[in-house]
Amino acid sequence: MVKVLFVCLGNICRSPMAEAIMRDLVEKEGLSEKISVDSAGTGSWHIGEPPHKGTVKKLAEYNVSTEGLVARQFSKKDFEEYDYIVGMDESNIRNISRITGQPDDPKVVRLLDLTDAKKDVPDPYYTGDFQETYDLVSEGCRVLLEKIKKEM
Ligand code: 4NP
Repeated sequence: MVKVLFVCLGNICRSPMAEAIMRDLVEKEGLSEKISVDSAGTGSWHIGEPPHKGTVKKLAEYNVSTEGLVARQFSKKDFEEYDYIVGMDESNIRNISRITGQPDDPKVVRLLDLTDAKKDVPDPYYTGDFQETYDLVSEGCRVLLEKIKKEM
């Protein structure tokens, strides 16, 4: 099983959106038995909560299921367990390194560095723009899945 973990700050806006979109793509390609998808936040504020209502609403618009999404905190153990650890922005990558004590590990990547955009996924918790985030996360997930398929 190839294990993918999306990481943001609160695990209620961006990384659960990425988890849901990636899970949907993986299911549509018939790869659910081969690729598992999860998400976590580096912060602890929202542990146990469902995704932000803006994330739920946007995913519903695109018929992407949000079933089973519950916020949890990223831990050092995740670093050992997952094959792809995908942060949404540069500060997520720094926070991941701080928690794992392993800076510059190649399995830790910023999502949009896999795409031509090479930038942070804006945080809709602050921007309020869930559409912009949806579009960027979708593109990132599409490219990430192609990368994983080539590498497995
Ligand atoms: P996320 O957005 O990292 O995309 O889930 C945030 C959600 C909550 C907070 C910050 C960012 N917060 O400070 O509570």
